[in-house]
Amino acid sequence: MSQKIRFAIVGFGNIGRRHAGHIMHNEATELVAICDLRDEANSGLPDGVAFYYHLETLLAMEQVDVLCVCTPNFLHEPHTIAALQAGVHVVVEKPMALSTDECDCMIAAAVLAGKTIFAVKQNRYNPPVREVKKLIDSGRLGQIFMVQVNCFWNRGDAYYAESDWRGKKKKDGGCLFTQFSHFIDILYYLNGTIASVAGTIHNYSHQHNTEVEDTGSFSMKAENGAIVNFNFTTCAYQKNMEGSITLFAEKGTVKIGGQYLNTIEYQQLEGEALPEINISAKSNDYGLYQGSMSNHDKVIKNVVDVLQHNDTIMTTAEEGREVVHIIEQMYFAATDII
Ligand SMILES: NC(=O)c1ccc[n+]([C@@H]2O[C@H](COP(=O)([O-])OP(=O)(O)OC[C@H]3O[C@@H](n4cnc5c(N)ncnc54)[C@H](O)[C@@H]3O)[C@@H](O)[C@H]2O)c1
Repeated sequence: MSQKIRFAIVGFGNIGRRHAGHIMHNEATELVAICDLRDEANSGLPDGVAFYYHLETLLAMEQVDVLCVCTPNFLHEPHTIAALQAGVHVVVEKPMALSTDECDCMIAAAVLAGKTIFAVKQNRYNPPVREVKKLIDSGRLGQIFMVQVNCFWNRGDAYYAESDWRGKKKKDGGCLFTQFSHFIDILYYLNGTIASVAGTIHNYSHQHNTEVEDTGSFSMKAENGAIVNFNFTTCAYQKNMEGSITLFAEKGTVKIGGQYLNTIEYQQLEGEALPEINISAKSNDYGLYQGSMSNHDKVIKNVVDVLQHNDTIMTTAEEGREVVHIIEQMYFAATDII
């Protein structure tokens, strides 16, 4: 067996802890170090895992193959570039960064270092998404006419109180970056890039604790000619309600639904039907709120498969950049209803 791949994590909050669990669980990987600003992050670390307050020190002191960047959105670019310049591959949490300029700097640093950036878009592994992706790629759905994306989640005061970067324009970027970039990624993954955008956003019930919108509606045209409607809110009353994407196409209609793209909720297809899929218990549960499907084990496995077996990267840096580009297009076009 090859040597274990040595991982470190910067940012040991909600998602950093999940990365740690999966790295420790995978037989081909080992967790060697954690970096976080908070003292609490240093308590209860497994034996042999070193703790650092500064990423630069960690990178200088430890022999690391891969760094998982799990810090707030605005730190993805500097932390990724620091790791690449130290000769370390990077797994970067979503969103890849807060602008395409930042993404371009990250990609240039990876090319210069000869290292790889793995963008985290774990919803691509959701079984319903995989089935629909195969359906589209096989040509069985024919031309896609219209795509409807609904993201109706709830984010309450406790969520914003938990971490000081959330809801801040410069650190978080807004709901399209933090909550709904997963859905923009699946829209891009299934239907391609966006050609034109019109939309409206507003902050209805989070004005007391956020600087960003909490609701929006966009009408877009995709490069493939399809009309795309994208509606989102974090004001769904008391709990997440729906996270869905519906495709209306020449040879079928299919809806991936549930709260987090976890079921095939509707299908009417020419030819053979897709398997019934209804996964109800596998979202990331953070106690105060529910996130997306918990597929980070597959993200870590993909890193191993790429680095040890020359496999294909599930989500490349260029794809992570394209998602950021679509979000930029949406915010650029959006008007506030005030
Ligand atoms: N893929 C997913 O489903 C998913 C889910 C949740 C969060 N995320 C992403 O992960 C990132 C973190 O989100 P979170 O919810 O875990 O946030 P969090 O606030 O719970 O954790 C962030 C951690 O980073 C630490 N940190 C901040 N600045 C640092 C610095 N300069 N050096 C070292 N550590 C620093 C904080 O102390 C904190 O422990 C965000 O980009 C978010 O969008 C992805």
